[in-house]
Amino acid sequence: MKINDNYDLSSLMVNYSAALKILKTELEILSDEFEYSHKYNPVEHIKCRIKSYESIMDKLEKKGLDKTIDNIIEYVNDVVGVRVVCSFLPDVYEIVNIIQKSKNIKVLYEKDYIKDPKDSGYSSYHLIVSVPVNLSIGTIYVKAEIQIRTVAMDFWASLDHKISYKFPEPNALPVEVIEELKNSSDVIKQLDKKMAHLVGIVNDLDIDKD
Ligand code: GTP
Ligand code: MG
Repeated sequence: MKINDNYDLSSLMVNYSAALKILKTELEILSDEFEYSHKYNPVEHIKCRIKSYESIMDKLEKKGLDKTIDNIIEYVNDVVGVRVVCSFLPDVYEIVNIIQKSKNIKVLYEKDYIKDPKDSGYSSYHLIVSVPVNLSIGTIYVKAEIQIRTVAMDFWASLDHKISYKFPEPNALPVEVIEELKNSSDVIKQLDKKMAHLVGIVNDLDIDKD
């Protein structure tokens, strides 16, 4: 199936867009339920996007794959991308846990870049999931990437992205920039720990929030 078969590509994109809507709604419901039972909202915001046609093609090219519909489905896991930005570090793991237990979202695999940050200093919890989409022809399963991180990690990742991530040749980045970005991510880690500690103290005071 070639990529210039427009009908197939556009129907594929319709499926991705349906999966994104379902995933976003599902995550909003789970987070509302959490807010109701725990009396606080762990989610600062949820951001969604569909990968652009150009980025999908770039990814296939980088992976040395033919530009076919089958290769998109099989190897590009992040056409549908959802980012859940949480307030505190423990909230990230609460959200991961809720998703793992969800009946509708099936976790295919996960990467804990908080426990094991990338060399760049990047940290986040990544889940590759499968979302059921009910079409008139039956149910199809669409893959999606969920990134879960704290606001502090999101701050670091957004600025790192602007400074270096799309740098044409990452190795050409000045060593000082690489090292300082890494050092900044250590500072972020300390801040997240400190904030988790502070909110822990306040929560233990057991003040009636109603
Ligand atoms: P990709 O082909 O880049 O998607 O790599 P992958 O399939 O191995 O996935 P990975 O788990 O590395 O996560 C990819 C996504 O995580 C990227 O699209 C970014 O959103 C984010 N990411 C990974 N590394 C970095 C980094 O060093 N800096 C920033 N800002 N984001 C990163
Ligand atoms: Mg990606």
